[in-house]
Amino acid sequence: MKEPVRVAITGGAGNISYSLIFRIAAGDMLGPDQPVILQLLEIPPAMDALKGVIMEINDCAFPLVHGISGSDKPEEAFKDADIALLVGSKPRGKGMERSDLLKANGDIFSVQGKALNDNASKDVKVLVVGNPANTNALIAAANAPDLDNKQFTAMMRLDHNRALSQLAQKTDSQVTDIDKMIVWGNHSATQYPDISQATVNGKPALDLVDRDWYENDFIPTVQKRGAAIIEARGASSAASAASAAIDHVRDWVKGSDGIVSMGIPSDGSYGVEEGIMFSYPVICKNGQYEIVQDLEIDEFSRGRMKTTEEELRSEREAVAALL
Ligand code: NAI
Repeated sequence: MKEPVRVAITGGAGNISYSLIFRIAAGDMLGPDQPVILQLLEIPPAMDALKGVIMEINDCAFPLVHGISGSDKPEEAFKDADIALLVGSKPRGKGMERSDLLKANGDIFSVQGKALNDNASKDVKVLVVGNPANTNALIAAANAPDLDNKQFTAMMRLDHNRALSQLAQKTDSQVTDIDKMIVWGNHSATQYPDISQATVNGKPALDLVDRDWYENDFIPTVQKRGAAIIEARGASSAASAASAAIDHVRDWVKGSDGIVSMGIPSDGSYGVEEGIMFSYPVICKNGQYEIVQDLEIDEFSRGRMKTTEEELRSEREAVAALL
């Protein structure tokens, strides 16, 4: 039997975690032969609810769960963590401006970045799910000077998966028939879901759909999917977000099957400002991700990438004091 992997999850009593933790415990993220120790973090008012979640996990008698703990102290929850899923964050309250939200979450993610720096495994892989995910990841990375900022990533996989599903439905194909889907930029309505590189069963996607559908239906549908789920379900996407988090970490650890989208620290590739957490097309291999280089970017794509880059730059400015 392999040594257990320590997985820390914040926001353990929240909606996403209620799906996420159980799937990790069942082996969906790291495989059916990889035991895990689950280290859950919550804030004090949610500790009772967290206790209930832990009781349920115990009641599942998952063979892969070799330990589970709950804490309201980041330094305990992140102790020796190999993987950290930062899901918990502060939701936008009534009348709250985006800058207030950035600031409120900035405080959480600077504390958690420091706690990861001081307590987690030196090789910890961090995925930030809590919104605004890209800028929260930037703050956490900036507060962890002893870790490589490449160890911090933001979740764009839900957007990527939404884009795959929309294109598959439109072209009457399966998601597995699609290659080279990309979502660039920020996990927000400025993101750019790009099918200009994509193929469906080897054929260029743009030869199979009309331009009007691409620009005026596909792109806004993917960009605004989160709001559409809230409208339909009366609650935000939780199971699909959990599923995307599992896909993101599984591919990072075990390798991806082709291109996937990840929010990562920009190294300046494709002319994007260095340092911001920008979603790029990457390929994962041997526990690392690499940006796919040398894709031809047309003028339309360039404009969309600029818009989402500018938003990330302004978010960075708004939290400059925390970096
Ligand atoms: P939720 O409100 O049900 O759960 C969040 C949990 O985090 C709560 O239990 C809360 O007590 C906890 N929490 C708050 N501050 C914390 C802290 N400092 N430390 C530890 N725990 C803390 O929210 P839900 O639905 O689970 O979503 C979580 C986050 O994920 C939200 O910010 C949401 O916007 C974001 N999200 C991101 C997506 C992405 O694609 N990147 C997709 C869907 C949601």
